[in-house]
Amino acid sequence: MVKVNENYLKLKAGYLFPEIARRVKAFQEINPGAPLIRLGIGDVTEPLPEACRLAMKTAIDDMGRHEDFHGYGPEQGYAWLREAIARHDFQARGCAITAEEIFVSDGSKCDSSNILDILGEENRIAVTDPVYPVYVDSNVMAGRTGDADGQGQYGGLTYLPITAANGFVAPLPSTPVDLIYLCFPNNPTGAGASRAHLQQWVDYARSHGSLILFDAAYEAFIQDPDLPHSIYEIEGARECAIEFRSFSKNAGFTGTRCAFTVVPRGLMGQSSTAEPVELWGLWNRRQCTKFNGVSYVVQRGAEAVYSAEGQVQIKALINFYMENAAIIRRELTAAGFEVYGGEQAPYVWLKTPAGTDSWGFFDQLLSRAHVVGTPGSGFGAAGEGYFRLSAFNSRANVNEAMSRLRALGT
Ligand code: MLT
Repeated sequence: MVKVNENYLKLKAGYLFPEIARRVKAFQEINPGAPLIRLGIGDVTEPLPEACRLAMKTAIDDMGRHEDFHGYGPEQGYAWLREAIARHDFQARGCAITAEEIFVSDGSKCDSSNILDILGEENRIAVTDPVYPVYVDSNVMAGRTGDADGQGQYGGLTYLPITAANGFVAPLPSTPVDLIYLCFPNNPTGAGASRAHLQQWVDYARSHGSLILFDAAYEAFIQDPDLPHSIYEIEGARECAIEFRSFSKNAGFTGTRCAFTVVPRGLMGQSSTAEPVELWGLWNRRQCTKFNGVSYVVQRGAEAVYSAEGQVQIKALINFYMENAAIIRRELTAAGFEVYGGEQAPYVWLKTPAGTDSWGFFDQLLSRAHVVGTPGSGFGAAGEGYFRLSAFNSRANVNEAMSRLRALGT
């Protein structure tokens, strides 16, 4: 009989969002008419920006003519998209990132897992707690952790609690780590990170020879002009950080799929014999072997994000979701909840009522208000007693969900 990858057997539960979907489906089977409002998974609801749609339609027509037809594209992404990204997202903010350092992909979720392919198994890994579960589960699947304890924390991982007490930013580890996952603006707490905070991390990584895996999927939602949008705005970050970015949330590409990863030239790791090895070359090699690129049509859609019209349209989308976040914050605060986040990211992080744990609150909200959220404990042990509401929904649904929550009281 074929043997399975037993690391999968160490995983504590189903992946968080399918697990929520399973529970919601079970509820719907018993309550078929219940008018559900989904503020759980951070999936966008508003249509794709017109500039992106028009660019994709034109690209479809290109594919219908011999002279403009595109087969396999470059595994790293088309040069015109990589150049637009480098110019608008990095050089315009003073970051010396070039097109060659941008690798276009089909998602940050995949890239933040796939990056493990090029990193040694002996690396000591740190994650925040709570954390986007992909970082942890992908390490478990790859056999880079021990078993889970009673709280669901895996042996071999260093957990850095992010709490109300530390302003939801990651404390430096007390024992040395080689690989650090940071996500800012943060999923799930919605917290932003200051320049000074990220500088501490870059200084730490440089002095310890560590690598920061920086997930900036929500950077477009930052409202505070003093907060950095990229780790490369921090001095020294080119020497110690890889950054993940996505068109999913800022431009509504969750279903369309386009993202990118930045691997600076000259960013080094080392072999077991202490030979320096450039990570760019390894990632390029990995992508050329295992990935055939994002479709031409979708990359043309992503390129349109950087057009003048595209920029206006995505700003309107972002403002729309951040107004939802402001409504959620305001209404929950008025209803007596302790509320965090929602100011630099489209996620609101709230304390569950006294005596109710995260899944208990999930069940209450689902059964009594027909509102779906995400239990904080699904993001890690330190998320117990918290709950995440996503601002990705229509205004009518957000207003209705808040009036049902108000009626529920704390
Ligand atoms: C979330 O809800 O945390 C996000 O949708 C996850 C993701 O983008 O994969």
